[in-house]
Amino acid sequence: MKSKNVEKAINEQIVVEAYSSQLYLAMASWCEKQGFAGASRFLYMHSDEERMHMLKLVHYLNDRGGHAIVPALKAPPKEYKDIFKVFEDIMEHEEYVTASINKLLEVTMKEKDYNTANFLQWFVMEQVEEESVFRGILDKISLLGKEKGMFFLIDKELDGMAAAPVA
Ligand code: FEO
Repeated sequence: MKSKNVEKAINEQIVVEAYSSQLYLAMASWCEKQGFAGASRFLYMHSDEERMHMLKLVHYLNDRGGHAIVPALKAPPKEYKDIFKVFEDIMEHEEYVTASINKLLEVTMKEKDYNTANFLQWFVMEQVEEESVFRGILDKISLLGKEKGMFFLIDKELDGMAAAPVA
């Protein structure tokens, strides 16, 4: 790959996507253990999507003559306060992912790597969609209220979303 800075920045984004996949996997496992079948189904699926994002970057980088590095990852949290907090944490995490994609895009523009900038448009749109999905879930949680009795309803809602994924 011509620009080593772009290669480095893509490798950093590979870490972000790989960690996202692990984070949602940990959340899915926690939800499953708590009996939230719908939320866990939704989150297992989402973890797979993040792995797909990571692979997209791996293949692109290798195809362009760079070297995609498979990173060591820090362990995601094992425990979560409740199902609502899981989705609040996801929203925060996705905002961080969006900022990270934008930073990567800035590097490509600075390096005049317009091919990579073009390739990244898919990720830009994906972040818009993901943020909208998770904001929608948080809106539903606000609507239902954060009472313990609402756990079941939000889980059912997520089960419906897992059955008919938006993405
Ligand atoms: Fe790959 Fe949810 O960002």
